[in-house]
Amino acid sequence: MDDVRKYLQSQREQFEADLFELLRIPSVSADPAFAGDVQRGAAWLADHLRSFGLPAEVIPTAGHPLVYAETPPVPGAPVALVYGHYDVQPPDPLDEWTSPAFEPTVRDGNVYARGATDDKGQMLTHVNSVQAWLETVGKLPLQVKLLIEGEEEVGSEHLEAFLAENKDKLACDCVVVSDTAQFAPGVPAITYGLRGITYFELKLTGPSQDLHSGVFGGSVANPAIALAKMLAGLIDADGRVTIPGFYDDVAPLTDAERAEFAALPFDEPKFAQQLGVDALDGEAGFTTLERRWARPTFDVNGLTSGYQGEGAKTVLPARASAKFSFRLVPNQDPAKIAAGLKQRLAELLPAGIKMDLREFHGAPGVVMPLDSPYLQAAARAIETGFDRRPVFIREGGSIPIVNTFAEALDADVLLLGWGQNDDNPHSPNEKFSLADFHRGIAASAALWHELAAIDN
Ligand code: BES
Ligand code: ZN
Repeated sequence: MDDVRKYLQSQREQFEADLFELLRIPSVSADPAFAGDVQRGAAWLADHLRSFGLPAEVIPTAGHPLVYAETPPVPGAPVALVYGHYDVQPPDPLDEWTSPAFEPTVRDGNVYARGATDDKGQMLTHVNSVQAWLETVGKLPLQVKLLIEGEEEVGSEHLEAFLAENKDKLACDCVVVSDTAQFAPGVPAITYGLRGITYFELKLTGPSQDLHSGVFGGSVANPAIALAKMLAGLIDADGRVTIPGFYDDVAPLTDAERAEFAALPFDEPKFAQQLGVDALDGEAGFTTLERRWARPTFDVNGLTSGYQGEGAKTVLPARASAKFSFRLVPNQDPAKIAAGLKQRLAELLPAGIKMDLREFHGAPGVVMPLDSPYLQAAARAIETGFDRRPVFIREGGSIPIVNTFAEALDADVLLLGWGQNDDNPHSPNEKFSLADFHRGIAASAALWHELAAIDN
């Protein structure tokens, strides 16, 4: 391990330069205009893996390609599958970035760029640690398989099928994912639970074209008002979702877990201040960490209707639409939620308005066992890389394929996040601490050593 450590020290600048190269590729998976750049992202990654002797494949799918590589099998040692994503969220709103989204820029020890933390920077920590072992020891102490996809930010639709058809190729004892955050600066964490998600778009249509709101207003239903009422009707005054059966399967928080959350060093006023709000809000009867990590929620993600230009225009819009999603917790079934939503929207739909509901991606929530030996090995590796034992947390975000990994591969999933909560993923000025980048690489290098020591 000493040679590995020295190598990591000597390669700090090179690792950063490699990361910046990947960050310059605008691999936005949601927008077809960037499809070529997503391809370039996959090609860059495969070439990079080949540059230190790993035969890497770019595997086409019906959507964006996967990148796959593996080190040689090591009899008697466990197999680790690293999962990450090279696709990124759209960079909008562009004018709120201090430096351009795809021109990585270092300020105060952070690299700013779309994908810096989510997930190019975090994902590369494992690529770099594999490189370090190969370039020094010549081999890894266990087999590492790397599966890096290009559709995480759009729901991992085609990865599901690939996984179902390639269970032998991907067979492993544990899955390693760095696509979450630490609990706070200087407080590394292992995430043992994630929320799921189900995402929709609702389009309402009223009159056959926009109307003069003075001539016609008050005599026909206004789609914008109908939309506002319908969305508001999905949640009650206590912040609870009104879809029939929505809470039926929700795994309740145990008293022990509530006590563990409460014991974490979480400063609510500071959290509110960081977000620029003067009060926090959410489901009655739950703390902020409980609301974020272990309770299902409803959010409107986008809202469109009527006149959006300069000045005032007296119009009764013909159409209104919204994108919205529910975060789900373990045992809630996205399909059942979708069925309940349709029923609730039908109740809320006023006369004179037609609706069209489109369903996007869905994924269930997950909670992983805390007594896994792989998890304990990861805790030791994090202590090596970060000089501090991790705390165990849940997170509110979703990584759709994680549940499938746990079920289809029967593997423990280790969510080892190197990011920070203020990294601005999906927002302007996304960043990643370069110190955390290097600590993450060191932790990953130690992880191969710790996992290899587990009897298999
Ligand atoms: N890295 C995030 C998920 C995440 C972020 C988990 C922070 C925990 C803490 C991931 O890339 C992501 O954003 N996923 C999407 C999935 C969705 C598009 C299906 C999400 O959660 O919105
Ligand atoms: Zn993301």
